[in-house]
Amino acid sequence: MSYGLLRGKRGIIFGALDENSIAWKTAERVHEEGGSFVLTNAPIAMRMGTINALAEKTNSTVIPADATSIEDLEKLVSESMQVLGGKLDFVLHSIGMSVNVRKGRSYTDQNYDWTAKGWDVSAGSFHKVMQVLYKQDAMNEWGSIVALSYMAAQRVFPDYNDMADNKAFLESIARSFGYFFGRDKKVRVNTISQSPTPTTAGKGVKGFDGFISYAEKMSPLGNASALDCANYTVSLFSDLTQKVTLQNLFHDGGFSNMGVSDSVMQAFEEQ
Ligand SMILES: NC(=O)c1ccc[n+]([C@@H]2O[C@H](COP(=O)([O-])OP(=O)(O)OC[C@H]3O[C@@H](n4cnc5c(N)ncnc54)[C@H](O)[C@@H]3O)[C@@H](O)[C@H]2O)c1
Repeated sequence: MSYGLLRGKRGIIFGALDENSIAWKTAERVHEEGGSFVLTNAPIAMRMGTINALAEKTNSTVIPADATSIEDLEKLVSESMQVLGGKLDFVLHSIGMSVNVRKGRSYTDQNYDWTAKGWDVSAGSFHKVMQVLYKQDAMNEWGSIVALSYMAAQRVFPDYNDMADNKAFLESIARSFGYFFGRDKKVRVNTISQSPTPTTAGKGVKGFDGFISYAEKMSPLGNASALDCANYTVSLFSDLTQKVTLQNLFHDGGFSNMGVSDSVMQAFEEQ
């Protein structure tokens, strides 16, 4: 169902790799709500993914950019304003990657070059994106910037590895930059802390099947899907949430406030 919540709004969506990506579902929903946008991803992901099909479907332009490269980001932001015909109202940062996770190095045996790379891609890139937007004065007043996080920023999930630290850093950047963006440009900045979701990044984490089922059993409303996340993001891009900023917003069916649920108790009682 479409409510026309983003009619006339323009933005950039980072991170749509394939149809499972949270950014992919968000692009589809933003399009349905009347928003127009540029899609972007790392040049290497262009070859692996199917972003052009999404661009065709949503009538949008694709501009490749490595989100860790200031040069790429400067080009992306200025070209996006040209393509879309004005300043931006929304930006989605939906980017995450840990080389330690990918290559199976445990948290207690990190390769620090990989740690630094994962940090730059997963957290530093959010600062870089916002700094480029800020310096180019690319956001309209009452615009909205959202990045995606995970609850391992607050609580221990051993196999989430160095991504836990990256997400804590990401959430901190949202607050710190959000202050300046709010004060100077009337732009809001938030992170959404999303349930485990079966995407390429999600399924790359060891033990994913176990903890997605556990979260499902623990959450009174069940896990939030990628489409649920897209809908929540649309609300944060809309004019209905103009005074929400500097927040890490849990979008997880209630998981983050649970101690134990009946169905998890039952699994132990059966043993
Ligand atoms: N899947 C989950 O369980 C889950 C849960 C909570 C939060 N998140 C977060 O949601 C976001 C989106 O991930 P997803 O689950 O949709 O997986 P995904 O694999 O579909 O998306 C991750 C994206 O990051 C992009 N990326 C990697 N390096 C990049 C770079 N240098 N420059 C630009 N883009 C780059 C990838 O190409 C990919 O499109 C991530 O921040 C992830 O950590 C995911």
